[in-house]
Amino acid sequence: MSGGMFPGDALNLDELEQLARERLSKMAYDYYASGARDERTLRENVAAWARIALHHRVLVDVSARSLSTTVLGAPVSMPVLIAPTAFHKLACEAGELATVRAAARSRTLMILSSLSNTAIEEVCAAAAGAPLWFQLYVYRDRTATEALVARAEAAGARAIVLTVDAPLFGRRERDVRNRFHLPVGLRVENMTAAGHADVPERGAESGLAAYIAEKLDPSLTWKDVAWLRSVTRLPVVVKGIVRPDDAVRAADHGASGVVVSNHGGRQLDGSPATATVLGPIADAVQGRIEVLVDGGARRGTDVLRALSLGARAVLLGRPILWGLAVGGEDGAHGVLEAMRAELDHSMALAGCARLSDATRDLVEAGSGDRR
Ligand SMILES: Cc1cc2nc3c(=O)[nH]c(=O)nc-3n(C[C@H](O)[C@H](O)[C@H](O)COP(=O)(O)O)c2cc1C
Repeated sequence: MSGGMFPGDALNLDELEQLARERLSKMAYDYYASGARDERTLRENVAAWARIALHHRVLVDVSARSLSTTVLGAPVSMPVLIAPTAFHKLACEAGELATVRAAARSRTLMILSSLSNTAIEEVCAAAAGAPLWFQLYVYRDRTATEALVARAEAAGARAIVLTVDAPLFGRRERDVRNRFHLPVGLRVENMTAAGHADVPERGAESGLAAYIAEKLDPSLTWKDVAWLRSVTRLPVVVKGIVRPDDAVRAADHGASGVVVSNHGGRQLDGSPATATVLGPIADAVQGRIEVLVDGGARRGTDVLRALSLGARAVLLGRPILWGLAVGGEDGAHGVLEAMRAELDHSMALAGCARLSDATRDLVEAGSGDRR
């Protein structure tokens, strides 16, 4: 394998995004693609991976390669997972069911967003045994939040991913211009019983930003990580970390993992590209908890860079949405398989037969063994 084809015969994710753009409404495309304010962090996420050179090793036997690993004990066929993203029915009719089936076919893990257009129970049922984690937004309505966590646990989710970088939503100017809202028929399906399911148009602003400002709890602190642990037996992963001290705090508060993330450049514009903070964060937690990363990974080489900096796995956000838009379940599956092929190919060229061969010397000049 030297790198597979993406859906629609796209050679890479940039081409796939263009195909997706042609198929989506302007409101949906802009919602998926955009970042906050000037979109500097959005662009930097991609650019920063590209700046990291890969110091390939030579004359290593790479004839047999293995990509499989585990995340919090769950076996996955590769260190490429699906990030939680909202509203998959804006991309294709089957929505999150298409995504979870694609994940199961690729034997990898999907993280389901709180803001899904399909209820957690239905998505877990369609996972057909593949591991699934549930991403949690904490609502001001704590009763509804606790009920949601209990439903995720009962449905078979294997971890709760607590997103902590969104006390309010970042100002995504394209959504403001488009007056983003959910089209008739689409809802936040996990929140129907609690009465928080509708995201209607709200005058000259983003209907989603208004929903979040009204419904989510901006008073969240580290104490709430302890609260969450007290209401579930599932491991807790804290998502949205860009500082080593916060990662250590997460470990101190009993988290099992962190996701190094700036929410795909959609929250604080100006927060650092994740590629630039991953290494120091991995160093700070010293293997106490698992470190995952997302943001701007668009090539197999980016995944290899992330592993070399200490990540256990990489989450893909927008690439999966482009796959869904172009080809539904097959499209999302195609993205995962093309990324697998790219990672496999880059490992061979870098002199890595196993994921454990992706060590820090691959990305830091002169840090290899000098014997
Ligand atoms: C359209 C969209 C919706 C998202 N929705 C959520 C969400 O509901 N919960 C969450 O924790 N993160 C959400 N994110 C952030 C992703 O989980 C992830 O951090 C980000 O997309 C990774 O960057 P990438 O898109 O460059 O791969 C969303 C991102 C996008 C693009």
